[in-house]
Amino acid sequence: MSQDAVIRTSGLTKYYGKQLGIDAVNLEVKPGEIFGYLGPNGAGKTTTIRTLLDFIRPTRGAATVFDLDSRQSSVEIHRRVGYLNGELALYNNMTGEDLLRYLGNLRGGLDWKYVNALAERFQCDLPRRIQGLSLGNKQKLGLIQAFMHQPELLILDEPTNGLDPLIQHEFYDLLTETKLAGRTVFLSSHILPEVEKVCDRVGIIRQGKLVTVETIETLKSHSVRKLEIHFAANVPKDKFVTIPGVRDIDIQNNVLTCTVVGSLDALVKASAQFVVVNIVSHEPSLEEIFMTYYEGANHAK
Ligand SMILES: Nc1ncnc2c1ncn2[C@@H]1O[C@H](COP(=O)(O)OP(=O)(O)OP(=O)(O)O)[C@@H](O)[C@H]1O
Ligand SMILES: [Mg+2]
Repeated sequence: MSQDAVIRTSGLTKYYGKQLGIDAVNLEVKPGEIFGYLGPNGAGKTTTIRTLLDFIRPTRGAATVFDLDSRQSSVEIHRRVGYLNGELALYNNMTGEDLLRYLGNLRGGLDWKYVNALAERFQCDLPRRIQGLSLGNKQKLGLIQAFMHQPELLILDEPTNGLDPLIQHEFYDLLTETKLAGRTVFLSSHILPEVEKVCDRVGIIRQGKLVTVETIETLKSHSVRKLEIHFAANVPKDKFVTIPGVRDIDIQNNVLTCTVVGSLDALVKASAQFVVVNIVSHEPSLEEIFMTYYEGANHAK
């Protein structure tokens, strides 16, 4: 069955008593995309995810997963979703293998060949007891149980929490394979370079409100970047100060430095009146983009 959105929320709002969790979140996750849900601690990522899976009930608004109502069809939704909990609750007395067998049986069986392949990729020692596993090793087990049924949608709350760089890399590869297989991923994170690496689109959430949803490219094009233009001779500042989007101009030793918001076009054309020796552009990191949105949201208050 084709869907135009695998996840859709409309006006999704959750208050914990008087404490705001999320406020009127409107989200659409398309089939086959890797959607990153970015926000700092306490932004509302886990609240959104728990509402989608009907672990908590929204105060207002609604959500659908596979066009099914999150509250009325939670059993079917759970069956079709692989879920990684941010605060993994595991059964300490079991071994990893016991736990996977138990969870597999709840779903009507497991492909152990695939489970073992995942365990090998993540260097996860399945016969070990869960009690005594490090945070990262518990997280690997959490990832295996999320992926082991090859579900059509993965909802992953801070999936790389505690993973070392090698295992993180393995996880990113698995995400790429998942996408190539036409499956959909919704992952929360506060790690920006990771989202930049693996996601198609990003929703930024802050203090319970969805600030923006953009493709990674658009996010960058809206953003602020630092530029250095090296001229053959000194240039007059007044030729540059009136250019829209250009800020913090400084000219020293034939080098103009400035900050540009959005397109570089007007600045490049103004510079072309003079002899340009070199242009150095400092690409904004997602971290800086993130801060720009945060600052914008702060100013809007
Ligand atoms: N059970 C609860 N009772 C009261 N307030 C809660 C509860 N769960 C979450 N909150 C509040 O809701 C807001 C959103 O929390 P949430 O856990 O969704 O954030 P998060 O983005 O997942 O943060 P983190 O990155 O720390 O995991 C926070 O202000 C939090 O304190
Ligand atoms: Mg959380």
